[in-house]
Amino acid sequence: MILLYMCCRLFFSCWVFPMLAYRKLKKNGLHGPSPSFPFGNLSEMKKKINIKSSSSFGSNSNIITHDIHSTLFPYFDRWLNSHGKVFIYWLGTEPFLYIADPALLKKLSTEVKSKNWGKPAVFRHDRAPMFGNGLVMSEGDEWLRNRHAATPAFKPTNLKAIVTLMVETATKMVDKWTTLIDSGTREIEVEKEIKATSGEIIAKTSFGISYQSSRAGLVFQKLKALQMILFEPNHFMGVPLGRFLHPKKTLEARRLGKQIDQLFISIITARKQSSPTTPPWHDLLGLLLQESGTRELGSFTKGLTTQQVVDECKTFFFGGHDTTALAITWAMLLLAMHPEWQNQLRKEIREVVGDKQIDVHMLASQKKLGWVISEVFRLYPSAPNAQRQAREDIQVSDKVTIPNGTNMWIDIVGMHHDPALWGEDVNEFKPERFKDDIHGGCKHKMGYLPFGFGGRMCIGRNLGFMEIKIVLTLILSRFSFTISPTYCHSPCIMLTMRPSFGLPLVFQPLY
Ligand code: HEM
Repeated sequence: MILLYMCCRLFFSCWVFPMLAYRKLKKNGLHGPSPSFPFGNLSEMKKKINIKSSSSFGSNSNIITHDIHSTLFPYFDRWLNSHGKVFIYWLGTEPFLYIADPALLKKLSTEVKSKNWGKPAVFRHDRAPMFGNGLVMSEGDEWLRNRHAATPAFKPTNLKAIVTLMVETATKMVDKWTTLIDSGTREIEVEKEIKATSGEIIAKTSFGISYQSSRAGLVFQKLKALQMILFEPNHFMGVPLGRFLHPKKTLEARRLGKQIDQLFISIITARKQSSPTTPPWHDLLGLLLQESGTRELGSFTKGLTTQQVVDECKTFFFGGHDTTALAITWAMLLLAMHPEWQNQLRKEIREVVGDKQIDVHMLASQKKLGWVISEVFRLYPSAPNAQRQAREDIQVSDKVTIPNGTNMWIDIVGMHHDPALWGEDVNEFKPERFKDDIHGGCKHKMGYLPFGFGGRMCIGRNLGFMEIKIVLTLILSRFSFTISPTYCHSPCIMLTMRPSFGLPLVFQPLY
């Protein structure tokens, strides 16, 4: 009986329910590439990924192209041509609505309240060791409560206080580079360095601990290992029992997830044992603990449970440094290719900052730096897509309803590289697009989404933007830089968009 029940459940969840959802979508006039059972369109997607990884976007600055969408996502690019900017494709037995149409997104975000958006169940389960049910993955009232709990950590007065800490941490990095350069080393692998600095900043500002501390160092190391396992291209996402096709990796992911949880429990315990008056209780961890209602570990009776605090810690540790570090890395690449922009930014730094210590007002006055960063986010968005799941039927027009349960994949890279939205120079680095328009002259406001959209937009965007400005200002004031001949331009997606082989740059001191 039990076996029969299990078989029926599998049959319904893998075949009957997805087919019903697919039929509903088709009835609404939505089509897409033909799937096959049980892999959906995965075989086609994997084939293309393999082709991508063996190709390159050019190995030196003369032939680096920013036309990355067709190489990163050749399958989406082909389906876009044959099915338009909205179509259905399948990850295993899960139908997904692909969206690269800003007008539809606008409609969706006016129709659905932020609290009523879901996150695809298929990802929530798979990514549990990394994010648990933290803010990126949670839904409904739980999401609303946790978002409210975390928001004060990002208010302007808190961010102001964080500037000094960011400057100190980034100065340590450029001091180290100065020593290296003075001793004759001109080439530096920038991605790794920036990742460590960004990690240090999030660990100190949000959790009051140092990156160098053994616990924080271990968390970053294990999060990175987890990212490699969970987001490698050969994953059988959405395939029934797909995790049993890679049993070793599934077990390893779970093991790493548990170890990270334990590390956070010890970080939380240490904070709880510190004196209640010891600052910083207003930082993110302090706010989460206040929300947990009591500071006795293991006896949370209201507010957040220990596991919920741990899940938020994991989410912020990862989300708070990876995307920001990658944005700085891509900015360094683009500036290395454009020495004229390095010069313009240096001039602005001399005018705005001079010899003084950077403060929050100066950052606001660095207009050109703001345009450069916005253009970097357009060409190389560190978060290349956003995902949603409908938790109610969404009436898009008289003819089209998106049924409850529909998974959605919003292609941010696709929209940022769409000539119909940006013009024929879409793949050129032109920060001046953002001079008089925060949307960079995009024909539709929702076509530029580096931080996502609606009420679920990135909570850390101001913190991230501030950090990018500070780190770039300190680097540009001390060095000029060019691309190393060893650099190979090969952006890839491992949840976030990164350079496959790091970013070696050659530095010249300006002092
Ligand atoms: C500056 C680089 C950053 C980029 C490009 C970025 C991008 C994004 C994107 C695209 C989303 C998804 C939004 C959506 O689904 O509509 C997101 C969500 C999120 N980000 Fe960021 N982010 C950055 C920095 C940060 C920082 C510094 C933090 C934390 C300190 C952070 C924490 C989060 C969290 C917790 C969410 C989930 C928000 C929710 O669903 O309510 N991010 N981010």
